[in-house]
Amino acid sequence: VNSESVSLCPLNTAAAPEQELLCIFGTGDLGRSLGQRLLQCGYRVVYGSRRPHSCGPLPPGTQAVSHGAATQSANLIFVCIHRQNYDFLQTLAPQLNGKVLVDVSNNLKKNLYPEANAEYLQRLIPGAHVVKGFNTLSAWALQNGPSDSNRQVYLCGNMAEAKQAVTETATKLGFTVVDRGSLSAARELEDFPLQLFPEWRLPLRLAVGLTAAFFFYLIIRDIVYAYVVQGKDVSFRIMVSLANKVFPIVSLIMLSLCYLPGVIAAFLQLYRGTKYKRFPDWLDRWMLCRKQLGLLALAFASLHAMYTLIIPIRYYVRHRISEITISQIRENITYKFDTTMAWRTDSYYSVGILGFGLYILLGISSLPSVSNVLSWREFSFIQSKLGYLTLFFCTFHTYLYGWSMFLKPSYYKWYTPPAYMLSLVVPSVVLVLKLLLLLPCVDRTLTRIRQGWEKTDPE
Ligand code: HEM
Repeated sequence: VNSESVSLCPLNTAAAPEQELLCIFGTGDLGRSLGQRLLQCGYRVVYGSRRPHSCGPLPPGTQAVSHGAATQSANLIFVCIHRQNYDFLQTLAPQLNGKVLVDVSNNLKKNLYPEANAEYLQRLIPGAHVVKGFNTLSAWALQNGPSDSNRQVYLCGNMAEAKQAVTETATKLGFTVVDRGSLSAARELEDFPLQLFPEWRLPLRLAVGLTAAFFFYLIIRDIVYAYVVQGKDVSFRIMVSLANKVFPIVSLIMLSLCYLPGVIAAFLQLYRGTKYKRFPDWLDRWMLCRKQLGLLALAFASLHAMYTLIIPIRYYVRHRISEITISQIRENITYKFDTTMAWRTDSYYSVGILGFGLYILLGISSLPSVSNVLSWREFSFIQSKLGYLTLFFCTFHTYLYGWSMFLKPSYYKWYTPPAYMLSLVVPSVVLVLKLLLLLPCVDRTLTRIRQGWEKTDPE
């Protein structure tokens, strides 16, 4: 590729240091906003339009001419037209040879076309240097200039000089450029604006699924059972009692699911005797959404903490307490103070509070503004060591809450275990596996594998 074919100096401007002239194809919202921004930053702008005399209001100081005429006056051209209208550009191919074309287009849906818009444009005009970029910005963001949340502009293209030219313009407009490589990355850039919380999808589905499953399970065990077997209507319990079981249970399971893939990965490395083999795709995907899993789990734990706060003011609870007090007065007996019960309840509250405190710390340290100022060692200390401690506290809180319940047959309504027991399965497995990994002999082998050592198979 001839790098000299790309020169950003406006044509015929050798003598006077004139403002650089840029060209925009298309006079839609995006084209107009971009033009206005370019003008504000000291460029001159000319529009290329199919109907130069009837293309609506343009930023003052600019003019619209035919595409051919506009092409001749500038070396850098922003193509702000829809992909379905690209074909006509082919007729301009000879004039566009050696020019830098910035493809800012987006599609309405993913995989609408077999190739990326920018690659299609490059195929139509092989002699031009196509750079994909600016497509992640809205017309509004372009017009108003960068703000903290949309400072970044992604670019990709095959020719370094062309990308450099676009980078200079973007920098003058106040944006920070992130180079995503060659034009083959265009597809990815075009998919960016169409994404809808991709990394949250799996954790959200899991949270909704677990919540629904446990609500159903608890309605059968707590509400339907009381109605069928005891003839009592306790459906009011759905609002607080059931919610305050479902939320902590889902939270505990999701927290343990943040740590399970790490443990599985460690055992996989031990089994394979190397760190150089790729993990299966499902494990990779699982590991990539741990942060979102953890944040959702924290949200559910916060709900549990809030529901717990209102226990003393609940009508049902106050009624039960006064009922017990009155019956003691009537029967003239005083229930003995149960020290074991006092220990048990205080312990599980206290451990719950400690677990929740650490949970919040984990959540805060996963925010980019906090994690960015931590060293890798500090971050992994919090997320790993304190993470397992959080899981331990929360699991222990639940074991203490259950106490000796598992021994009493009356808790196994319709032969089903209480929901809290089900919630303990995954966390207990994760903690036991983690303990195994901490055994000195296992830990030593794993550390060696992670430092690059490989098990050699006996031939
Ligand atoms: C149950 C308090 C934090 C998991 C309970 C109960 C209380 C409580 C009072 C019994 C609820 C009932 O009788 O229905 C607290 C306090 C916390 C806290 C004060 C800290 C502010 C946590 C955390 C988790 C957790 C961080 C872990 C995710 C559980 C579980 C149950 C439970 C799984 C059993 C739910 C059931 O089936 O009844 N907690 N907790 N708790 N808590 Fe916590």
